[in-house]
Amino acid sequence: MTTSTILAIDQGTTNSKAVLVDFGGNIIAKAQVGIPCQYPQPGWVEQSGEGIVQTVKEAIDACLSVSPDIEVAAVGISSQRESAIAWDSASGLPLAPCVSWQCRRSQPFCEELKRLGLNARVHELSGLPIDPLFSGSKFRWLLDSFDHSVSRHRVRLGNIDSWLLWNLTGGEVHLTDTSNASRTQLCDISSGQWSPELLDVFGIDSEMLPEIRPSSHMFGKTREFGSLKAGIPIMSMIGDSHAALFAQGGFRPGIVKATYGTGSSVMTTTQDQPIRAEGLATTVAWETPEQRVYALEGNITVSAAILPWTAKLLGLGGSVDRLAELAESADGEGQAILVPAMVGLGAPRWVGDITGLLDGLTFNTEPADVARAAFESIVFQIKDVVDVMRSAGQRHGLPPLTALKADGGASANGWLMQLQADTLGIMVQRAAQAELSAVGAALLAGLELGVWPTLEALEGVLSTFDTFEGLGVDQDIRHQAWIRSVERTLSQSK
Ligand code: G3P
Repeated sequence: MTTSTILAIDQGTTNSKAVLVDFGGNIIAKAQVGIPCQYPQPGWVEQSGEGIVQTVKEAIDACLSVSPDIEVAAVGISSQRESAIAWDSASGLPLAPCVSWQCRRSQPFCEELKRLGLNARVHELSGLPIDPLFSGSKFRWLLDSFDHSVSRHRVRLGNIDSWLLWNLTGGEVHLTDTSNASRTQLCDISSGQWSPELLDVFGIDSEMLPEIRPSSHMFGKTREFGSLKAGIPIMSMIGDSHAALFAQGGFRPGIVKATYGTGSSVMTTTQDQPIRAEGLATTVAWETPEQRVYALEGNITVSAAILPWTAKLLGLGGSVDRLAELAESADGEGQAILVPAMVGLGAPRWVGDITGLLDGLTFNTEPADVARAAFESIVFQIKDVVDVMRSAGQRHGLPPLTALKADGGASANGWLMQLQADTLGIMVQRAAQAELSAVGAALLAGLELGVWPTLEALEGVLSTFDTFEGLGVDQDIRHQAWIRSVERTLSQSK
């Protein structure tokens, strides 16, 4: 019997994934192919544009090979955000390597814009502070760098979603969605369209850019792409963090999502209001044909990455499992605080020129206290972002946050989840499902396809959760000590 599915592509920084989701919302097959980054100079990070397409093709081939009785009814694309690529529309070939979101090469250009006093206006229009992370300055760098024998009208600029769409449609379609566009720093987030003023600031010609569409939309039809047949509609495109929030049921009010990875992306929707909050990005979460939904996002630079580092420091051979065991044995009375500012602090503080701090040491400090402090640094950083979201929401009359939805590698640790629930005073729900970004893209495609015609219909196919209720264990005193240590850390900044 043939099974109808949606093929979700999740193109990330380290892997290209293909995931088949059936009409019950279940994952019935998945495959992933790794993709490397290149580091040609300190601070520079790039990837091969052709490599991205090739690994997506290989992942799709592997995924579709699991069963001959699969019908792919639609394709959805979730992808790494901000990474920028330029290609020649005639040859379809990249004009330079893809500049990764992590790459800082456009820092001097960003500094120049800030010196010109443009930060406040750019932030107001785009929802984002001027920073090399976002695509605008990367596009500028690309336009200044490649071979200018290619005439300007052949140059196409885009993020990974547009690059994949171009390749999947055989070079026929150049579009993006509002969520990806809102991370370029060129989009006026109130109108959801390219801002002529921002294009002027960054010196970008709108004809090179994709047109912007809702995240759930009929973007075009596939040409034959490896074993993927021609003629399949591509029905969604969305940034990966946004897709994960959607799959976590983040379209309901009162939900905040946190991904516990190397860093953490903490995100909550603010419904139809593009709210501003100090230290957080204002962005489009997603757009359906009915509604554009906004979000606040805080990116924490060092989150779970602190765990293997601390495990190594304490002589545990870098084992996070041994570190967790040690941390759980601490009595909670120790005073050690670890501020993981190894590469500065991200949201909500955004200070770069500082280093980490191990604070509050006494002769009673045990290795277990330091191990616990490493785990606490994750939950306290997330609390600080959630607290900014809570007060912004309150100022704008949004419903209070009642649940934090957790995903990402470190969320597997139940003790960490319990600590997070105690610290926030709201329940933490950990998704049983691993491929949230892919599932989010599949659900948005299914919405457009009419498999799940409404958000209510989607409720029934969302992932199940393990729930951690706050046990009333007071973390306030520890959190206040954390805030004092963060202030001491920030005082290093010039
Ligand atoms: O903002 C960058 C982010 O979208 C990258 O996601 O999953 O590739 O690390 P990932």
